[in-house]
Amino acid sequence: MSKRLFNFSAGPGVLPESVMLEVKEELPVLGDTGASVMEISHRSAAYKAINASAMERMRRLLGIGEEWHIMFLQGGASMQFLQVPMNFLRADETAGYLVTGAWAKKAMKEAKSIGNVHVYASSDDQNFNYIPAQAEWSYDEDARYVHYTSNNTIFGTEFHFTPDVKGLPLICDASSNFLSRPINMASHALIYAGAQKNIGPAGATAVLIREDFLQTKNSGIPTMLDYGTHVGDLYNTPPVFAVYVIEKVLKWLEEKGGLAAMEQENIAKADQLYAALGATDFYRPTARPDSRSRMNVTFRLADEGLEAKFVSGAKANGMTDLKGHRSVGGIRASIYNACPSEAVTTLVDFMREFERTNG
Ligand SMILES: Cc1ncc(COP(=O)(O)O)c(C=O)c1O
Repeated sequence: MSKRLFNFSAGPGVLPESVMLEVKEELPVLGDTGASVMEISHRSAAYKAINASAMERMRRLLGIGEEWHIMFLQGGASMQFLQVPMNFLRADETAGYLVTGAWAKKAMKEAKSIGNVHVYASSDDQNFNYIPAQAEWSYDEDARYVHYTSNNTIFGTEFHFTPDVKGLPLICDASSNFLSRPINMASHALIYAGAQKNIGPAGATAVLIREDFLQTKNSGIPTMLDYGTHVGDLYNTPPVFAVYVIEKVLKWLEEKGGLAAMEQENIAKADQLYAALGATDFYRPTARPDSRSRMNVTFRLADEGLEAKFVSGAKANGMTDLKGHRSVGGIRASIYNACPSEAVTTLVDFMREFERTNG
């Protein structure tokens, strides 16, 4: 087997190595089932136990009870862009959107296909390099809900506060920072996250809905897109393998000490990287300091012509996937939960050496 490199991919992203080894060990035969987890019925006791354990672990990590429904759906976070308004917006109603990046724009586009939207705030004027301050938002007291993207994967910005939407239902696309820090659950009505960055492999999307908000959903929605179909017993075959891995990642998170401990590790990694970026003019972080993401650290080289060399040099030194998103270019180091601190230290050392030899 080729050597694993330090992985800075924005998603699907790095998973804990211990989880991968456990999966490898169990892959041909799961427990006493006599078959692989990929070959057993989703109605079997073995799978039901995995599904229930994933939900229990997530409830414990987030400090929530049965008032929250947890679902593992297919279609990615992009499906949620549509499923949210289908369930909670009508043609004559308006939903509020915080437009802080490309994914937020895509979410708003889907809502426009169902009803009206009101832009609470946008950072489009500065190529999405900041999170607009709450004092400057344009509120709509009659909005059906307000949607935001807690971490902007492409532009490297993150909300460092929970939006105060004055009692309206708050909906969050948490795809790229889900379970990287504690979440103020009481302030939210619905949270969704594609699994493939912080909690598991691609194929499952975690959707959490508070029961009282679910009660307010529209009727007449096609079966598979109706959240009501997926709360309670499994309606159809879930992404079995993805949920199986997610359960193991959640166990790993609990063993690490939960979300508060995870947050401290993530702060330490991000601080180390931003400090290295701030120490020289050779590198130029793209996000405004107050809005910088702890998950996706985006920067340019002062001499942009050196960026391809930086990415290939990093690869030669054991680090992969540092190229920025194709729409913005530059460098992006995604340092999700499972990215070890040694990966960041290795990157920082490489950055210094690259500057010394190319500066
Ligand atoms: C914040 C955010 N939302 C949504 C998506 C889209 O996710 P998916 O590919 O699961 O549809 C992404 C993907 O990178 C993302 O980063």
